[in-house]
Amino acid sequence: MRVHNFCAGPCTLPLSVLEEVRSELLDYRGSGMSVIEMSHRSPEYDEVHEETLALFRENFLVPADRSILFLQGGATLQFAVVPMNLLREGEPAGYVRSGTWGRGALKDAAACGDAYAAWNGEPFSFTRMPSDGELEIRSDTRYLHVTSNETIEGIRMATFPDVDVPLVGDMSSDYLSRPIPWERFDLVYGGAQKNLGPAGLAVVVVRTSLLEAMNPDLPSYLRLEAHAGKNSLLNTPPMFAVYVTGKVLRWMRDQGGVAAMEERAARRSGSVYDAIEQSDGFYRSPVEPAHRSHMNVVFRAPSDELDAAFLKGAEQERLVNLKGHRSVGGIRASIYNAMTDEGVDALVGFMAAFRDANG
Ligand SMILES: Cc1ncc(COP(=O)(O)O)c(C=O)c1O
Repeated sequence: MRVHNFCAGPCTLPLSVLEEVRSELLDYRGSGMSVIEMSHRSPEYDEVHEETLALFRENFLVPADRSILFLQGGATLQFAVVPMNLLREGEPAGYVRSGTWGRGALKDAAACGDAYAAWNGEPFSFTRMPSDGELEIRSDTRYLHVTSNETIEGIRMATFPDVDVPLVGDMSSDYLSRPIPWERFDLVYGGAQKNLGPAGLAVVVVRTSLLEAMNPDLPSYLRLEAHAGKNSLLNTPPMFAVYVTGKVLRWMRDQGGVAAMEERAARRSGSVYDAIEQSDGFYRSPVEPAHRSHMNVVFRAPSDELDAAFLKGAEQERLVNLKGHRSVGGIRASIYNAMTDEGVDALVGFMAAFRDANG
């Protein structure tokens, strides 16, 4: 029997997708083998690859002047690859240090080039994002890096900065859960293992016109232009992850695409935030309301003991992986695109029952 899995990633996937994968695993469409046993140069895989690229573009409303790249190494590798490709001598990059991941991106960028914090959320304990007026962007800045959703602290950029420099976005934990103002972005990236599919695939979307001017003196795997030139088949791609992601994207399209995902996310995270707000102070969210994530709802019960009792009781109700990240503690419900409404309703019901029993 399946559980309601609130894991922050990898996370729950649509049941229909898992069932389809199971049905195709031994014999993919009459080929006599599974997708993970065939050549990445075979016509069967080629079709999977092309279809997944096209579905990503369609679902995320990616403009025609952008290249979509399927890479490995997760978002973490992009922390380094992005500055290596985009920065040149005398052009620094500004980073919004909005939480654990924004901090990590800045640290790696600083190891590869000139990167600085354009804003630091640490004095606010990473409980909110900056307003545009708070950003300190130096002259000649090549790009401003933002983390659209901080997975651990449970905060998100409700709107993206409207500034004079292009944006680069780590969208790992809210990829394809909201449309974005493409004209402001030179590049976005994220790991697949939350909203899109299994771990092992990272997707980069970059303005195609920038590729040629990128640093040519990098090893080939680190050059975004090399991947774009080979349609993400420079080397063996993460075929299984691409294949499953294709199925998730088809499922997403059938649900109504990114607009439907955005509406679902607001409604479902909203029902958990309502349960927090209407608990007469029993549950508390540390995050300022306007900055609350629609993907990762972070909250606490009145004590560490009650947090632990909550997690234990939830697990008995098959509500699992609700523990906050080890660095912050508390409770975190990750409600990604594939989480079912039943899962969210069950969580909200459990929150009420737990409060009644312990309040
Ligand atoms: C916002 C954000 N950025 C980056 C990462 C790191 O991603 P990966 O494990 O794909 O390298 C994560 C992982 O959870 C994340 O949530």
